[in-house]
Amino acid sequence: MTLVSPSLLSADFGQLDRDIDMLNRSQADMLHIDVMDGVFVPNISFGFPVMKFIERAASKPLDVHLMIVDPGRYVNQVRDCGAAIMNIHAEACTHLHRVVQQIKQAGMKAAVTLNPSTPVMMLQDIIEDLDMVLLMSVNPGFAAQKFITHTLAKVKSLREMIDSRGLTGQTTIEIDGGINLQTGALAVEAGADILVAGNYVFADQDPEAAIARLKAL
Ligand code: DX5
Ligand code: ZN
Repeated sequence: MTLVSPSLLSADFGQLDRDIDMLNRSQADMLHIDVMDGVFVPNISFGFPVMKFIERAASKPLDVHLMIVDPGRYVNQVRDCGAAIMNIHAEACTHLHRVVQQIKQAGMKAAVTLNPSTPVMMLQDIIEDLDMVLLMSVNPGFAAQKFITHTLAKVKSLREMIDSRGLTGQTTIEIDGGINLQTGALAVEAGADILVAGNYVFADQDPEAAIARLKAL
């Protein structure tokens, strides 16, 4: 079964209540929350006060994607904002192993995110500690970018790494960026478990139906 995590980056922040209500009613499995600091990525999105509001309004788990430098500084604050999953970028974190343990000790699921240019091999000595790997299929920072096809090869090699270690079902693969019905189908075929989608969902006149289409992949 494909899981879907719609990205609120493409929601209407003037009507966030309405958009979160829609996600609560929809088949979305979780809500993807993109936090950007203007340093790790060339954009700034939103921070903890907005996350707290999202937590109050949402009835589904929060999948928090931190595009910030040194994310280990914020483990407890992210937990206090209700995150179920804390995604940190391998490229932004010097002591990845330590921070992964801190995330789990704080009671959240730990996920490591890789930029398009970071090889999957980087995870071979930490994969067993991870609940999820998030592969970026665009360079992080903006919604509505074009899917980078090479990510499919990365999904396949990560699938092999996970399955060969006996971690199937324990360590999941999420993919983020440029996901639509076509790229989503290719990603699922390559071995992705969870599809993040922003523009594809929120640009549709019927976002609930768009989510249902991704769920059916
Ligand atoms: C990009 C973010 C993504 C983005 C996805 O930096 O991490 O989650 O919102 O948006 P789409 O699906 O529009 O590419
Ligand atoms: Zn994201």
